Amino acid sequence: PAPGWAIDADVVVVGSGVAGLTAALRCTAEGLRTVVVTKALLDDGSTRWAQGGIAAALGEGDTPEQHLDDTLVAGAGLCDEEAVRALVTEGPDAVRRLIATGARFDTDDAGGIALTREGGHHRRRIAHAGGDATGAEISRALVTAIREGAVRVIEHALVLDLLTDAEGRTAGITLHVMGEGQHDGVGAVHAPAVVLATGGMGQVFSATTNPPVSTGDGVALALRAGAEVSDLEFVQFHPTVLWLGPDSEGQQPLVSEAVRGEGAHLVDAAGTRFMVGQHELAELAPRDIVAKGIMRRMQEQGADHMFLDARHFGAEMWENRFPTILAACRAHGIDPVTEPVPVAPAAHYASGGVRTDLHGRTTVPGLYACGEVACTGVHGANRLASNSLLEGLVFAERIAGTIAGARAAGAARPVPPGGPGGPPPPAGGAPAPAPAAQAEGGSRGPVPLLVPEARHEIQRIMTDGAGVLRSAASLEQAADALEALHLSARHECGATDAAAKAAEPGVESWEATNLLLVARVLVAAARERTETRGCHWREDHPGRDDAGWRRHIVVRLTPDRR
Ligand code: SIN
Repeated sequence: PAPGWAIDADVVVVGSGVAGLTAALRCTAEGLRTVVVTKALLDDGSTRWAQGGIAAALGEGDTPEQHLDDTLVAGAGLCDEEAVRALVTEGPDAVRRLIATGARFDTDDAGGIALTREGGHHRRRIAHAGGDATGAEISRALVTAIREGAVRVIEHALVLDLLTDAEGRTAGITLHVMGEGQHDGVGAVHAPAVVLATGGMGQVFSATTNPPVSTGDGVALALRAGAEVSDLEFVQFHPTVLWLGPDSEGQQPLVSEAVRGEGAHLVDAAGTRFMVGQHELAELAPRDIVAKGIMRRMQEQGADHMFLDARHFGAEMWENRFPTILAACRAHGIDPVTEPVPVAPAAHYASGGVRTDLHGRTTVPGLYACGEVACTGVHGANRLASNSLLEGLVFAERIAGTIAGARAAGAARPVPPGGPGGPPPPAGGAPAPAPAAQAEGGSRGPVPLLVPEARHEIQRIMTDGAGVLRSAASLEQAADALEALHLSARHECGATDAAAKAAEPGVESWEATNLLLVARVLVAAARERTETRGCHWREDHPGRDDAGWRRHIVVRLTPDRR
């Protein structure tokens, strides 16, 4: 539908987690007129659920180089070393700037920042707040700064699509705002720079640590706009999510890696530790290895969960160090002080996303991405624990600098990715792969919207066919079922019907539609990658194939597949 209202800005930031709010604050500080639009409330995204903390080489004797080494090992050969170097070298100062913005981290006896360990880290380098409520504190500090600053905020704003000019450059977004008074209904924010910071897509699976709003909206928008996405097959399953029964669906409570970092053991029903001997770091091996260790033990024993035993912490440590997790467990009738906590892996983090260069620029001029929605190259095939909040901070700041720099240089529009006339460099040390599909010219037709109930069907298909353990057969089944859903949506939603539906786009329909699009691309990539690497685990291809697969799967959809 034609926008009923429009506003102008220099930058529009879509999303309000650590990446989005940092980008907005820094853009505003650069003198750019900045608008933040967010689907629900400012603090409703994934950031506030982050527990363990934010990784940075802040401790005595730790160095960015050691943080780099741990990140590259976790990434299983697919990290972009330059991007990781930017992350780990700029990270410590980015955390200090976050503290200057108002975030209060836990301190040690000497008054310095208290640091813990998590999987894959050879040192204590995870800063935390409120014990295990790091994301909530970061979110509080950033939301406060935004509310006190000059950033314009539009909440309850569902972003529909990217606006582009005749040359294909970003010109803003269309959005549907619900109940915001002055700007209500379908409207537009016109801006030459759009920053996607919409978070992840965990809701594509039945059980996830992600909140209900994590429906892959940014990746779907980017795909519809013809941008490249990369590495979608690398979905990280967090090893220790509170197991609430076989039928438990939706957002599940996380039991932070930091609990293992402080000495908790993974045990089976008989109380036997099973990670010892599997990896030099045992329970603190990188996340994919621990998730696989748990899944294997579950398969061997025909169990649907394992246990995390931290009774030896005692009541005082549980109460002081992990109050959020303690409360969540007790709310479900489990007391970690007196009994082992039932845990199983669940979908947690998208290591891939909208492909960017080192400055957050996507392949569509003027469109940027940072945070979980982006694939900057820092995570490779498996993100290192607590690198996500850091990535959001560092790359949001880089984007603000890039947009401001382009403007100061007098450019009417931001410089295209990779400099004039060139695509960004490949997001890894390996040669650039051919895109899976070449985009063709042509106008974007109406998006065939799904009915909201399709969300559950998509989640079931993905959990059965593309979860922790995948095979050619399970993925083929998933692909067929998703394609059938896609075709039925197209069939039921002819042009007239689509126009009618699009006149009143409901959040649930758009979320289901976005989930389907990202699920189809994810499954296609998982089918193509015939090896096991990082968090992509193929039962039928159990080995890592460096000769064939030390490369990325980059996808750009043709208009007919969007
Ligand atoms: C956790 O606290 O275990 C989550 C940290 C992360 O996802 O990086």
